Amino acid sequence: MRVLDHPVNVLETDRLVLRRMSVDDAPFILQLLNEPSFLRFIGDKGVRTLDDARKYILTGPMASYERFGFGLWLTLLKESGVPIGICGLLKRETLKDIDLGFAFLPQFWRKGYAVESAIAVMAYGRTTFALKRIVAITSSANDASMNVLEKLGFGFEEMVRLSKDGPEMRLFGVKTPA
Ligand SMILES: CC(C)(COP(=O)(O)OP(=O)(O)OC[C@H]1O[C@@H](n2cnc3c(N)ncnc32)[C@H](O)[C@@H]1OP(=O)(O)O)[C@@H](O)C(=O)NCCC(=O)NCCS
Repeated sequence: MRVLDHPVNVLETDRLVLRRMSVDDAPFILQLLNEPSFLRFIGDKGVRTLDDARKYILTGPMASYERFGFGLWLTLLKESGVPIGICGLLKRETLKDIDLGFAFLPQFWRKGYAVESAIAVMAYGRTTFALKRIVAITSSANDASMNVLEKLGFGFEEMVRLSKDGPEMRLFGVKTPA
């Protein structure tokens, strides 16, 4: 993993580049956020048009970069520059710790991209943001995500709700590699 000293490009792995999103990424975000898997396991962000997607990018990831220096980054294939998903760090109001988030388009699943990008993000969290611990939350039905977390060394800790009426989710945690 290489940390890139660049205002937009953040991280590079063997096969991937992680970079900051901009409103120009609205077409990709519109597609990703309406994938059945995203709607089922992460939730419906109500993004139905390119304009909704631009607003989501501005108030979600871009606001997070400004406030914390991190957020969800766009994940692209290094060789072709094709965007395949998002991976990054989130600070939620309702969680004490910073959590890892990831989602990829189905045609890019089972190629190790979630694990590869998450390893880089976790190391970056440790080196740049001094995070000693990172958490992750998934719905109980999301076997793929739980398997990814297991591969990354996360362990199940407790059931949590992100909002008072929200569904119960599984919270996993890991100490970041020194
Ligand atoms: C979860 C998700 C990110 C996994 O991405 P991925 O790039 O396919 O994951 P990887 O290829 O790195 O897989 C690593 C391991 O996870 C497990 N895994 C991945 N997809 C799986 C699936 N559909 N079923 C069971 N295990 C799965 C496997 O153990 C896999 O290792 P293996 O291929 O060597 O057996 C992807 O399925 C996705 O985007 N889902 C929709 C969004 C989502 O649920 N995000 C997580 C929210 S918490």
